[in-house]
Amino acid sequence: MSRIVVCPSEDWALRAATYIIEFLQKKLHAGPQDHVTVGLAGGSTPAAVYRHWNLQAPPNFAWSRVSLYLSDERMVPLDHRDSNFRLARECLPKAPHLYPVNTTHTSERAAEDYEELLRDTVRVESGSGIPSLDLLLLGVGTDGHTASLFPGSSVLEERQALVVPSTHPESGQERVTFTLPLIQAASRVVFLVSGEAKSTILARVLAEGGQSMFPASRAALGSRDVVWFVDEEARGAPGA
Ligand code: 6PG
Repeated sequence: MSRIVVCPSEDWALRAATYIIEFLQKKLHAGPQDHVTVGLAGGSTPAAVYRHWNLQAPPNFAWSRVSLYLSDERMVPLDHRDSNFRLARECLPKAPHLYPVNTTHTSERAAEDYEELLRDTVRVESGSGIPSLDLLLLGVGTDGHTASLFPGSSVLEERQALVVPSTHPESGQERVTFTLPLIQAASRVVFLVSGEAKSTILARVLAEGGQSMFPASRAALGSRDVVWFVDEEARGAPGA
């Protein structure tokens, strides 16, 4: 199932944060002893959403039972301006369980270790044997990439490993990324897309079919429950 939620741009980040909080509160109340697991989008778009999440979560929000993982990471020091961990750590200071990628290792070793962490700490769904995150937040690049799965990259076809090394096609920056099997095993995937610069790619990604060249399309079409949480500027709505 896939649906689109469009918000006025001025409300988008707060509405997205409220959506995340309400979704997680239901999960936390449904299993009072369980940890709830969340994959975080990287890049710059989600920062405002994470800040609102941190501020708007009610006093009874059980941060101690929320485990946060990075859907991808740049292989830079954790305090580097490009670090997705740094951004998440700054925007979500109330979350005690934010798991960094060990970027002091090679990307191969870092990917293996992060996959092992996910297998050890995220509920594995029966049958597939793949960890199923309760919620996975993703962004979309203007080339249609998501996480660090870039168009035309061989890692898009990875079917065994859950976290692999990746390289940004323009900058050559080394990264690690969730693969499609891990993304598509999540209980719910929420794409966070805002800004006029994403309107063209969003329209193309939403229009594409299963064998799309766009990783974001591939991720969405193979996932069981997808919400596109977009603002009017990205959607190209009349109000934009
Ligand atoms: C990353 C992200 C990536 C991001 C898109 C959008 O580490 O770069 O995981 O997939 O979500 O590139 O980035 P912006 O939000 O900065 O536009």
